[in-house]
Amino acid sequence: MSDLSKITSIEDLRVIAKRRVPKMFYDYADSGAWTEGTYRANESDFQKIKLRQRVAVNMEGRSTRTTMVGQETAMPVAIAPTGLTGMQHADGEILGARAAKAFGIPFTLSTMSICSLEDIAANTDRHPFWFQLYVMKDRDFIERLIERAKAANVTALQLTLDLQILGQRHKDIKNGLTAPPKPTIRNLIDLATKPRWCMGMLGTKRRTFGNIAGHAKGVKDLSSLSSWTAEQFDPALSWADVEWIKKLWGGKLILKGIMDVEDARLAASSGADALIVSNHGGRQLDGAPSSIAALPAIVEAVGSEIEVWMDGGIRSGQDVLKARALGARGTMIGRSFLYGLGAYGQEGVTRALQIIHKELDITMAFCGRTNIDEVDSSILLPGTF
Ligand code: GLV
Repeated sequence: MSDLSKITSIEDLRVIAKRRVPKMFYDYADSGAWTEGTYRANESDFQKIKLRQRVAVNMEGRSTRTTMVGQETAMPVAIAPTGLTGMQHADGEILGARAAKAFGIPFTLSTMSICSLEDIAANTDRHPFWFQLYVMKDRDFIERLIERAKAANVTALQLTLDLQILGQRHKDIKNGLTAPPKPTIRNLIDLATKPRWCMGMLGTKRRTFGNIAGHAKGVKDLSSLSSWTAEQFDPALSWADVEWIKKLWGGKLILKGIMDVEDARLAASSGADALIVSNHGGRQLDGAPSSIAALPAIVEAVGSEIEVWMDGGIRSGQDVLKARALGARGTMIGRSFLYGLGAYGQEGVTRALQIIHKELDITMAFCGRTNIDEVDSSILLPGTF
């Protein structure tokens, strides 16, 4: 066990993750598309929103417990699906799922994970988790993947709608991103400075896309994310596919990647249980607004018909509180989770969750609220949101 008591912010974890994770995977997680303007705005727009400080309010008996799609969570935060998580740290998805289970929040496995659906089920005593789905051209594969998700005890499916094609991320191209990394001189020099990571990888068999390897036909170069996305992801994805997936799955369905009010209306009328206001962490359409800026209009348009959540830019519990105040029933953390994982494995994820929870709890109290379900926009300073 490491002593993580001096790790007091998500930024502390980021700095250590950057030291410990090979450059190509750190860069993959910590970058946006093109100019990275949207990626940066996701964080900086949270800072513009100001909180109303209230005093002499009884702060005893606080609770951050709530539900997301009717499922209990210790705070309105779930771990977001992130690709290649098992390359930030060996067996990263299993460690993330275990930390989330212990903390009492949902964990979401990505289609593009290293550990498979079956790995998560087997290594968490079949604890319920969520699965994120990309629609690929091979529809038989999708049908089998959904069956596998049901068998693994997945209790909500997140269908991502904003990645039919991949936004250009300059660093991934320059780094020659593959999983596992190719043994080039440049990679070997970098890996020589990451002994912990290398030891972890030597101790696991999970080093490529676990949900795909051995399951999908015709994937020629699995290791290269950009080539198999281009070959396999279906650029013709439409609302008819959403209907098809909804029937096939039959359980709680969450639509991820909604940034526009018109799309939000379509999402609400599709009968999905939740939508996630998300620009994919600024990794797809650079030039789109930040998620927190897009949230209020979507909540106003469809918030009475469907649960609205958001992701993008959450680096503290204060951000979670602000999103909740603006109508997001739930939030998702991607990078804040990955920094913890890359820095210290499962303990680092737990630390990230503790940090976010504490910030959320204390900020809520300073704003004069003791129950997360009582938080609304009246805790925010008018004119700042
Ligand atoms: C996958 O979800 C990615 O953003 O790379």
